[in-house]
Amino acid sequence: MIKVFIEGHSYKHDLFELIRVFFPGEEIEFINEDDTDTEELLIHSSLLDRADYNLACSKIYKDGNLIKEIIINIDDIHIQGISKSRIIKNAIKKSIYDSLINLIDGEVPWGILTGIRPIKVSHDLINNNKDIYEVKRILMDEFRIHKDKAQLMIDIAMSQRKHIYPLVENKYSLYIGIPFCPSRCSYCSFPAFAVGNNYDKVGRYVDTLIYEIKGIKEIMEGKWLNTVYIGGGTPTSIKSRDLERVIATVKESFKSEDIREFTVEAGRPDTLDMEMLKMIKSMEVDRISINPQTMNPKTLEKIGRNHDIKSIISSYNMAKDLGFDIINMDIILGLAGEDLKDVAYTLNEIEKLDPENLTVHTLALKRGSRLFNKNENHDEASNEIQRMLKLTEAKAAEIGMFPYYLYRQKQMVGNLENIGYSKLGKESIYNISMMEEKETIIGAGLGAVSKIYNPKDNTIKRLPNFKGLKEYLNRMDELIEKKKNLIIR
Ligand SMILES: C[S@@+](CC[C@H](N)C(=O)[O-])C[C@H]1O[C@@H](n2cnc3c(N)ncnc32)[C@H](O)[C@@H]1O
Ligand code: SF4
Repeated sequence: MIKVFIEGHSYKHDLFELIRVFFPGEEIEFINEDDTDTEELLIHSSLLDRADYNLACSKIYKDGNLIKEIIINIDDIHIQGISKSRIIKNAIKKSIYDSLINLIDGEVPWGILTGIRPIKVSHDLINNNKDIYEVKRILMDEFRIHKDKAQLMIDIAMSQRKHIYPLVENKYSLYIGIPFCPSRCSYCSFPAFAVGNNYDKVGRYVDTLIYEIKGIKEIMEGKWLNTVYIGGGTPTSIKSRDLERVIATVKESFKSEDIREFTVEAGRPDTLDMEMLKMIKSMEVDRISINPQTMNPKTLEKIGRNHDIKSIISSYNMAKDLGFDIINMDIILGLAGEDLKDVAYTLNEIEKLDPENLTVHTLALKRGSRLFNKNENHDEASNEIQRMLKLTEAKAAEIGMFPYYLYRQKQMVGNLENIGYSKLGKESIYNISMMEEKETIIGAGLGAVSKIYNPKDNTIKRLPNFKGLKEYLNRMDELIEKKKNLIIR
């Protein structure tokens, strides 16, 4: 148990996330009264906000003894592109980081950054500091980010800028969610229902989704639809003619000649046959995913994917023969029982297939997934994740791919990152837009979130769709009205 006492500030959530990085799995309790006599580890974080000085202070007590104290003078910190409130929050987190870093054996590569979109920070700094070396210094000194991660943040941000800037006010992307899967994978907590025998609900869902897309068309009249992403779930787990109806609705409703990228997450190889792939290709979709997660048969069985390696390879080859422009493959690092050798094997097998994109996820133990409930021991994998990430980085470079987007999730094994790699010129514009939040994204489908971006003040208004199937199916007019109110009025 770790006890935390806060005085003079309210960054409880941020401190919780940061302390959890240092002590994964430990219980963290916020206490209301200072209790330096406790036998537990006590972290005391305070902000002294005075007229003539501002100090962030951390004290660590163990068995009642003060073992470390760090005081940071906030007035000494001036960073272009970072607001005063962010500087104060950073200083508080930095004082915690500096007081805890020598108490643990491991490393904290992302320093005090606990958010899921680190590249946004590098964009903000690049926008305000002409000198890239200065940006790197700030990331390392003010955020305590390791040198290689700071470089990665800059490299990715620089490669993304041509897709983000100049900001165009009336440009937007469309996300369409299809929350059905052939069966549930053990690690996954995405909203997805097994298609099963009862196809009625799928039919009703598709009808409602089409109605929603038509509603969005009315609302977004005159604006430029930049990219479309049909994800899930597994969109290809529904009947080919139903998915075709969805894609056709998009093509008919918006100026399809202006859409720069159209992705369908084909995902599970067991949902793909010639009929499905031919249909997707005939609809001029230029990017699909065929996701192995791993190329090791034993792991595949363990995680409940319900398909074999042969079907990954055959569906991939089918898609290649049909001439898809960009095929992405997702893999997950840290799957139960896998070591560095298994990851090396997966990467070598993927290299033979030669996809244009490779998305590398680090296992996140999410509430709601079967894996989380089983509480399997992932300590061993956690120690190896760093090396696995390094291996994927080296392999991606070897096969001519570069990292083009990056995000983090809560509860990731090893507290690291997910990285999307791409061959030159084949990067997904939608993935960049969605992560960097400098473009409006309209979400259609169960649980999809719309994010309305205003470039004038760099703000985002969020509107989530219903997460429950019943509400989604029965209250669509209400949902469309809400979108209209947010966008038009
Ligand atoms: C929304 S899922 C849809 C993909 C598609 N249904 C499939 O299974 O191939 C997108 C990706 O998230 C990743 N993913 C899902 N759950 C995860 C978890 N708990 N930890 C890490 N990655 C995860 C997987 O790599 C998956 O391909
Ligand atoms: S990983 Fe994909 S197929 Fe598996 S449950 Fe999640 S969304 Fe469905």
